[in-house]
Amino acid sequence: MSQQQIREIEVFIRARYPILYLVSWEESRVVRDIMGIGERTGKKVYEWSCSAGIAPAGTPPHAVKLRNAGQKDPLVALTEVVEQNEAAIYLFKDFHPFLSPNNFAVIRKLRDVANTLKSSYKTLVLISPFLNLPPELEKDVTVIDYSLPNLTELCELLNEVIEQVKDNPSIHVDLDDEGLEEVLKAALGLTLAEAENVFAKALVTGGKLDRTDVAAIYAEKKQIIRKSGLLDYCEPSVDVGDIGGLDSLKDWLRKRKLAFTERAQEFGLPPPRGAMLLGVQGCGKSLCAKAVSQLWNLPLLRLDVGRLFSSLVGSSEENIRRAIRIAEGIAPCVLWVDEIDKAFGALRGTSTDSGTSQRVLGTFLTWMAEKCAPVFVVATANNIRVLPPEFLRKGRFDEIFFVDLPDAHERREVLIIHLRNRNRSPEAFDLDSIVELTDGFSGAELEQTVIAALFEAFYENRDLETRDLARAVQETVPLSRTMEEEIKELRSWCTTRARNASLPQAAEKPALGRRKLEFT
Ligand SMILES: Nc1ncnc2c1ncn2[C@@H]1O[C@H](COP(=O)(O)OP(=O)(O)OP(=O)(O)O)[C@@H](O)[C@H]1O
Ligand SMILES: [Mg+2]
Repeated sequence: MSQQQIREIEVFIRARYPILYLVSWEESRVVRDIMGIGERTGKKVYEWSCSAGIAPAGTPPHAVKLRNAGQKDPLVALTEVVEQNEAAIYLFKDFHPFLSPNNFAVIRKLRDVANTLKSSYKTLVLISPFLNLPPELEKDVTVIDYSLPNLTELCELLNEVIEQVKDNPSIHVDLDDEGLEEVLKAALGLTLAEAENVFAKALVTGGKLDRTDVAAIYAEKKQIIRKSGLLDYCEPSVDVGDIGGLDSLKDWLRKRKLAFTERAQEFGLPPPRGAMLLGVQGCGKSLCAKAVSQLWNLPLLRLDVGRLFSSLVGSSEENIRRAIRIAEGIAPCVLWVDEIDKAFGALRGTSTDSGTSQRVLGTFLTWMAEKCAPVFVVATANNIRVLPPEFLRKGRFDEIFFVDLPDAHERREVLIIHLRNRNRSPEAFDLDSIVELTDGFSGAELEQTVIAALFEAFYENRDLETRDLARAVQETVPLSRTMEEEIKELRSWCTTRARNASLPQAAEKPALGRRKLEFT
């Protein structure tokens, strides 16, 4: 955990906050850190679990001698906490099952404990992988999401792992400072236990640890993160050069390329918080989100909004907190929330679990507004109707972009990109006429046009010609024709609320009318 977070917890303890609730999977790491705080503040540290009762922290389970066997009962244990007189920190492990709504006695008891402890030198610390806090206790309990290990802690761990194998002649470690940093960075976002496994595995397979293991560590991390439920660790795959048009957005991103560096901070620049991309289907929103990570050379995490709400209701709250913790652990990084409108849509549509969904979304939005870690959020959405106005308030995002259908100039660029991607030279085609014919086409439809034309030519056993493209265009009914009303509404909504992702090119605009352009 970061020194800053340890200090924060120490301050809470010194300031006599009665009950802290630490959310973490890493029990032993938390116990160790709290024992450190105990030493500095001159307080004894005790542990409680429902299997072993109360014992001095660090006592191995088999060595625990209970003064009172009844202590395994949470009510009895809490009474002991109240009755003991010395300055102490009590770590209650896995207390969440006792906080379910029907455990009235325990909940009431905790409120009494909170009252008593306020005027004592004792602190109750609940550790659990899950946050389960009944509303009655919200005012008495301070919740802290325990952050994942930072580079220093991972370095200590790696040194321990290396120490263990140093006498083994068949294992070699060959890491200079840069190599070491790469290996450690690759493990950011994992818990200590996960990182230990990953390092050990890297050492055992191949009998060595050097720079060539970085890729394997990333691959392991990818698996582990995926298992956590909501996040995908994506490979950087899209170059800004693969995006046609959207020059204003691309320019904005380029100018912020170095924004997470120390030099930018010294210059007085705040780290960018995020961008919202609103717009018409298939015009490159997801593409841009992916390109940010490549352009800024930062890892890309994708938050799966669909999974967020389909997961078991009870655990979705914990999942989102965990996803946030992982993103902060990996920071600086890009967190891509694709189709966030689905989340708000789900909120409107559901009746049974709306309490949970609301809290899940609330947790995420609060984090977005308050986050200090350099996590750049790129959210995308098509459906503005479901977006609550406060969501788009300045502060959460640095900028809201409107991604419209490509104009003539942009359509040309998109066609060129997709022809080149398929090894065709754009000069060989009459692009002017295709550009004119494709008024109202989205980027995705332009790509499909190229593909359909290729099929046509391949079938006729010759190379691609302009007429194949023209025919493919004629056979396509662009979405903008069937969804004219929706796009109009989106445009008019965005004129006053969003910045255009495209630069004004030729005066001409795709079929549906003209956009108001904003400059800064
Ligand atoms: N501006 C563009 N330049 C190049 N290719 C594009 C562009 N826009 C779309 N495409 C092509 O269309 C595909 C789909 O685009 P993308 O997934 O980015 O659209 P989107 O705006 O996220 O749409 P949706 O709202 O449906 O998610 C891309 O993978 C790309 O091949
Ligand atoms: Mg998309």
